[in-house]
Amino acid sequence: MSFENLLLERDDAVAVLTINRPQVLNALNSATIDDLRRAVLELKRDETVRAIVLTGAGEKSFVAGADINELAALPPVQGREHALQGQHVFDLIENLGKPVVAAINGYALGGGCELAMACTLRIAADTARIGQPEINLGIIPGYGGTQRLSRLVGKGAALEMLLTGKQLTAAEALQMGLVNRVVSAASLLPDAKALAAELAAKAPVAVQYIIDAVNRGLEVSFDKGQFLEATLFGLVASTEDMREGTSAFLQKRKPVFKGR
Ligand code: COA
Repeated sequence: MSFENLLLERDDAVAVLTINRPQVLNALNSATIDDLRRAVLELKRDETVRAIVLTGAGEKSFVAGADINELAALPPVQGREHALQGQHVFDLIENLGKPVVAAINGYALGGGCELAMACTLRIAADTARIGQPEINLGIIPGYGGTQRLSRLVGKGAALEMLLTGKQLTAAEALQMGLVNRVVSAASLLPDAKALAAELAAKAPVAVQYIIDAVNRGLEVSFDKGQFLEATLFGLVASTEDMREGTSAFLQKRKPVFKGR
């Protein structure tokens, strides 16, 4: 599969997806959003891929937002379609059923922050800058930012970021729970790949159900979320991997999970 603005590499069960438009700090134009859609569907389908690292090309930027050249040329009613397309692709990433680790190697602004938030986990380089600066362009986030940010960091912190458009340092993002870890720029990719490889070795069905239970459960009442959890627990308890995991523990050996 070939892409205009994405690089896709494989390292055993881990796929590394790199957004590759460094000349515009990896800004997301429509072609890149469509590349992402196709790549994500391919990675979902490929059973040999068990975890994904998502990063940006170059040292300066993860993704510096939606492509402002395209935004500036949008006819009025096209804005809604534009937002819906991006939201659809980011929803696919969030609900891929495999862990996606964002390796935030620099600016994650606007659509870049939104893309990172759609990922399962986020590791930031200490040089990263993260924010939702749309307000400074006279617009609002359109790729899920108002919804995911408030769920991730709480209403007050989200409103402050959204209304000021301020760029946070990696340390500030860590403190508010917007990223999971901060590491040196040099160790970002190795650390993100190591985390992805660790997750890739876990039981794939259990991984998928944990992601599903958390994502879907957050959108319903506690009671319904617990019911969903119990149902997924019932399903996962019928897998070969469940027998392998419990046998390996009792036999004092490492489990080998097959995703069945
Ligand atoms: N869309 C399109 N092009 C973008 C872009 C975006 N979101 N972000 C950066 N670029 C382009 C710049 O126009 C510039 O192109 P040029 O070399 O042809 O002039 C190139 O990328 C490098 O960016 P530049 O602004 O020169 O780098 P900088 O180090 O001075 O500033 C940023 C970096 C990230 C602070 C600045 O580029 C910026 O504010 N970008 C927009 C962020 C934003 O508002 N995102 C939300 C969009 S909805």
